[in-house]
Amino acid sequence: MRGMTADLFDGLDDVGPAREPLGPGAMLLRGFARPHETELIAAIEAIITQAPFRQMVTPGGHQMSVAMTNCGSFGWVTDRSGYRYDPVDPESGKPWPAMPPLFRKLAEQAAREAGFPGFAPDACLINRYEPGAKMSLHQDRDERDIGAPIVSVSLGLPATFLFGGLKRTDKAQRYRLLHGDVVVWGGPARLAFHGVAPLADGEHGLLGRRRINLTFRRAR
Ligand code: SIN
Ligand code: FE2
Repeated sequence: MRGMTADLFDGLDDVGPAREPLGPGAMLLRGFARPHETELIAAIEAIITQAPFRQMVTPGGHQMSVAMTNCGSFGWVTDRSGYRYDPVDPESGKPWPAMPPLFRKLAEQAAREAGFPGFAPDACLINRYEPGAKMSLHQDRDERDIGAPIVSVSLGLPATFLFGGLKRTDKAQRYRLLHGDVVVWGGPARLAFHGVAPLADGEHGLLGRRRINLTFRRAR
């Protein structure tokens, strides 16, 4: 029922996307990125020819199961020395690929839809999940200004998104994120703990056995 409504109304300005509040400051916009799926995927393909996916190592020495790359003025990276935003891809020594205008626009519109107008992301982390890959509960707190929200776009295989509170021990709610869904959190939810359960295997029509997530942030 809901799927049908979303398909019929996607992209129609007078109706708007299906909105699901996840709590104060957090909103799930069902299917918000769907109308742009083809361009988004083409842009990701172009980015990864310049800056391929790689599995980074945490400061604790663990290789992440999620493979990552970035576009924009700053890229989020981790290695044995810590987490940081870097204007340069450490693998190539060159700046990260530019953020495509569509990415910027989509993130700005999603943020506005969720109550955060004026979002101007300067960093886009691109996460690739293959079956079994996961992201443990964490806060996004490496950004200089936490006044700006986080905008997270899901593509490909469905995932179980864990969204908790401001304390690691707060019980996390589970949400199924589908291709085209966008989650925005900011304001009172900006430092909410979140993560992704191990990805179940499957086959997505456009992305195969993968989930790709774009996380937009204002880093600097
Ligand atoms: C992240 O927290 O960086 C990723 C979240 C997601 O993959 O949905
Ligand atoms: Fe995160």
